[in-house]
Amino acid sequence: MRSVAIQGGVFYNGDCIAGSQVIPDNSIDLIITDPPYGIQGDTLHRHYNRDESFVTGGYVEIRASDYERFSREWIEQAARILRPGGSIYIVSGYTNLVQILSALHQTCLEEVNHLVWRYNFGVFTSRKYVSSHYHILYYAKPGGKRTFNAECRFVFSEKNEDGRSLNYQDREDVWIINREYKPGRVKNKNELPLALLTKIIQYSSNERDMICDLFLGGFSTARAAIGLNRQVTGFELSPEMFDARIEEIAALKTGFMMDSIRVPEQENAPLTRRPWSPEEIDLLRSRYHELAVAGEKKKNITLILQSEFNRGHWSIEKTLRRAGIKPGEKQ
Ligand SMILES: C[S@@+](CC[C@H](N)C(=O)[O-])C[C@H]1O[C@@H](n2cnc3c(N)ncnc32)[C@H](O)[C@@H]1O
Repeated sequence: MRSVAIQGGVFYNGDCIAGSQVIPDNSIDLIITDPPYGIQGDTLHRHYNRDESFVTGGYVEIRASDYERFSREWIEQAARILRPGGSIYIVSGYTNLVQILSALHQTCLEEVNHLVWRYNFGVFTSRKYVSSHYHILYYAKPGGKRTFNAECRFVFSEKNEDGRSLNYQDREDVWIINREYKPGRVKNKNELPLALLTKIIQYSSNERDMICDLFLGGFSTARAAIGLNRQVTGFELSPEMFDARIEEIAALKTGFMMDSIRVPEQENAPLTRRPWSPEEIDLLRSRYHELAVAGEKKKNITLILQSEFNRGHWSIEKTLRRAGIKPGEKQ
């Protein structure tokens, strides 16, 4: 298998199932990957209104009849190489989602979230609803501490003009992120937007962590990882696709995206030391009851209260107890 060592990581031009034997067990902090969809005679991309001469050729598709075995085999390897506590995000359409879920259930990996990514450029249909979403399956390997930087983009207290929590909105499980429109530039058939990859990397990894993409395609995961100061490795079976991007990736400057990412407005940091007034405690008690009656889970109630009262986790928990409420108890 041909390999190229650049940017502090190694990129392999080969099959990720057999090839991943080069990656030691428990060595990867985060896997972000977008496997081929297994849609026979895939013409999905042709529905997009674009000049196909700029789309890189050589994309290797998997036969629908092989998809179950294929998914089982690569997901087994993904589970092996992930460190305990490491996270995996798998992008999937709906056609073969069941095979991916079934393969995941046969490993030790545990579900964290089932995200929906809603994008523009949906496939036009006239006799059914327009398809404009993908699934992103966010799983983790048990046995270690999972990285989740809950305030990496917005601290809990940041609000928009309507007083709504920006942190809450950013962490909702439906993501609205547009595909990139790149007229006149080389692109892969299904290239993931940098904004989507940036969000995953910010929440689920730290600088210098090792990220792996088993299906590199247009190397979008690698580009985002390098841009955010992470190490990266991965596989692409097609020589044509591998060669189309490898030089461009080698030329990137580590950390080139660090100045342009969303980071929290620190001046809105939680008011940790200010004492609670009796009025605030009354308000906290009544908001807690409202949220509990509305059926919110204990964990969410604390997060919502943190954001609404601009306080840290422990301050909310302690003050609820002072107000005679044991968080989590049925009201
Ligand atoms: C959906 S694309 C990945 C797109 C990529 N995330 C991007 O943003 O450009 C899937 C890629 O997997 C590659 N592929 C197919 N079978 C493979 C295998 N067994 N090992 C490694 N790569 C494979 C295809 O050639 C294709 O480039």
